[in-house]
Amino acid sequence: MTTNILHTVPVKLPGGRSYEIIIGTGILNEIGRAVQDAGGGTARAVLITDTAVDARHGDAVRAVLKKSRVDTHTIVIPAGERSKNFKQYEKLLIDINAADGLHGVVVVALGGGVVGDLAGFAAATYKRGIPFVQVPTTLLACVDSSVGGKTAIDLPAGKNLVGAFHQPARVVMDLDLLRPLPPRELRAGYAEAAKTALIFDEKLFKYLEANLDAVLSLEPGAAAQVIRRCCELKAAVVSRDERDVSGLRALLNFGHTFGHAAEAALGFRRIRHGEAVAVGMLCAAELSRARGLISKDIVSRMEIHFAAAGLPTAFKGCSVDDIFSHIKYDKKFAAGKTRLVLLEKIGRATLVSGIPEKQIKSALEMRVV
Ligand SMILES: NC(=O)c1ccc[n+]([C@@H]2O[C@H](COP(=O)([O-])OP(=O)(O)OC[C@H]3O[C@@H](n4cnc5c(N)ncnc54)[C@H](O)[C@@H]3O)[C@@H](O)[C@H]2O)c1
Ligand SMILES: [Zn+2]
Repeated sequence: MTTNILHTVPVKLPGGRSYEIIIGTGILNEIGRAVQDAGGGTARAVLITDTAVDARHGDAVRAVLKKSRVDTHTIVIPAGERSKNFKQYEKLLIDINAADGLHGVVVVALGGGVVGDLAGFAAATYKRGIPFVQVPTTLLACVDSSVGGKTAIDLPAGKNLVGAFHQPARVVMDLDLLRPLPPRELRAGYAEAAKTALIFDEKLFKYLEANLDAVLSLEPGAAAQVIRRCCELKAAVVSRDERDVSGLRALLNFGHTFGHAAEAALGFRRIRHGEAVAVGMLCAAELSRARGLISKDIVSRMEIHFAAAGLPTAFKGCSVDDIFSHIKYDKKFAAGKTRLVLLEKIGRATLVSGIPEKQIKSALEMRVV
C-alpha cells in the first residue's frame, strides 16, 4: 500500500502548545510514529477501540504498532453510544493502569466519536492526564469530534455531562479506515461538515454542493479537501476559544439545541446524531428567516442539499411539545437564557439570546411531520 500524506493541519493552542492533524491514505504507519513521539521513544500503547472497528481494523493497527516497536495492549468496548458510561470508564482506567509500565503509556483511540470521547476522557484523567493519539474511523470524528480536545462520558440525565478538555498529541486520519462505514453513518457525519461550512465558510458550502457525490464516496482528493478545511476551521476556533467561554466555540453548536432535543425525544436509537443536527440546522434556519436574518432561498438551498445528501429534512415520530420540553432542559440553552446559534448568511453564524419561546415553537412546527 502506498503511503500518501495529503494534508497536515497544525492546531495552535494558547501557551505555545500545538499538535498536528495528518490526513491521507495508507498512512497507518503514522500511528506508530505518533505513539513513539508522544511516549518519548520507548512507548507502550493502550489501543482502545470498539467491537465493530476492532473487527475491521484492529489487526492492521496492531501490526503497524508492532513494526514501530510499540508494545500494545488492546481494550475493546461494545460499539455504540451506550459505552460512554461510568462502568466502561472505570474498566478502562483499571486496564490502562494494568498496562502502565515504568515508562508510561500512550492511549490510542481507534474509532468514532464514542471511542474518542471515552478514551480521551480516560487519558485526560488517568494520573491527571497522559498522552493520547486520535485515530478517527468515522467521517463525524474526522470533521468534528477528534479535533479540539473535548472529551466526555454521559450520565443517565444527559449526554456529555462529565468531561474534560484534553488535547490529543496527534490526530492520524487515514481515509482508508472510513471505507467500511455504513452509508447512513457516512451521511450523518457529512451533516457536521455541512454545519462547519454553513457557519464559517461559504466557499466550502459551494464546494460541498458541487462535489457531494465525490465526498460521500470518499474519493481521496475531495474527501481529504473537505476534512482538511473542516479541521482548519475548527482548529482556528479552538485556538481562540479552547475552553468554550467566549461564544466563538459555541457557534459549532449550530443546529444542536434542536438536534439534541429531538435525539432525546426520540430516545437516541431511532435517529443518528448527524441526522438530528441536519434537521436542527433547518429549524435554526427557519428561525433565522422568521427574525429577518436570512431569506427563504437560503433555507431552501440548505434543504435541497441535505436531501441530496440523503439526510432528513424534518423530524418524524415525535411531537413539537416533546422536542420543546427537552429544549428547555438543554444545559447550554438554559444557561444562555434561551440562546441559540442563528444564521446571518451561508458562511456566517451568530449567537442570539432572549429568543421568545413562541418563535422557537413556530420554527419547530415547520420541521416536525
Ligand atoms: N468531542 C467532541 O468535540 C465531539 C463532537 C461531536 C460529537 N461527539 C461525540 O461523538 C459521538 C458520535 O460519534 P460517531 O458518530 O463517530 O459515533 P460512533 O463512534 O458510535 O460510531 C458510529 C458507529 O459506526 C461504527 N464504526 C466506526 N467506525 C467504523 C468503520 N470505519 N467502519 C464500520 N463501522 C464503523 C461504530 O462501531 C458505531 O457503531 C457522540 O457520542 C458525540 O457526543 C464529540
Ligand atoms: Zn454534533
